[in-house]
Amino acid sequence: MKQVIYGILVYSHIVSAVLSIGPLFIFMPIIRRLRGVDAVIEQAYLSVINVVIRIVMHAGHVLVFTGVLLLILGPWPWYTSWVIMTLAVLLLSAVFLSRGFTLVLRKFHDPGADKNVMLSRLNKTSWYYIGLMLIMLWLMVQKPMLW
Ligand code: HEM
Repeated sequence: MKQVIYGILVYSHIVSAVLSIGPLFIFMPIIRRLRGVDAVIEQAYLSVINVVIRIVMHAGHVLVFTGVLLLILGPWPWYTSWVIMTLAVLLLSAVFLSRGFTLVLRKFHDPGADKNVMLSRLNKTSWYYIGLMLIMLWLMVQKPMLW
């Protein structure tokens, strides 16, 4: 029974990993198209971006939650090197990037805000986020014993 639950958790963990990386790739083409469009189209694109951020955010929470359960139920102790490295990268991405996304979007409608600067920041933040997620994906799949 415990094995079945563990299997379901690993599966949910991987599905949430897919959902917390995949949607980000929609960002790049949208950001490119957002430059210099009129307000109605801009609003449509921005609502897609908002949905993407919400999916990624919820999936990220499920990812961490199932990950913690896997640690509690599974054979890997929390101090295993690849787990600690994942947690360190996770902390980095949570602090710098998740906040970066919401801040940029909130500021987007400020009259004084330079939209091109905002879009460049959004683009850069998305790439950093994807990069960090791919590093964590590598740590999880390879499980390297770093020390
Ligand atoms: C709080 C953070 C996390 C914790 C505690 C955690 C924990 C774990 C554990 C213990 C396993 C081993 C399951 C097993 O093979 O028995 C695992 C597998 C996996 N994790 Fe995570 N994880 C976390 C974050 C992430 C992130 C951010 C990603 C993706 C970017 C990710 C993707 C995966 C994948 C794809 C596997 C399956 C690897 C395999 O079994 O070969 N995890 N995770």
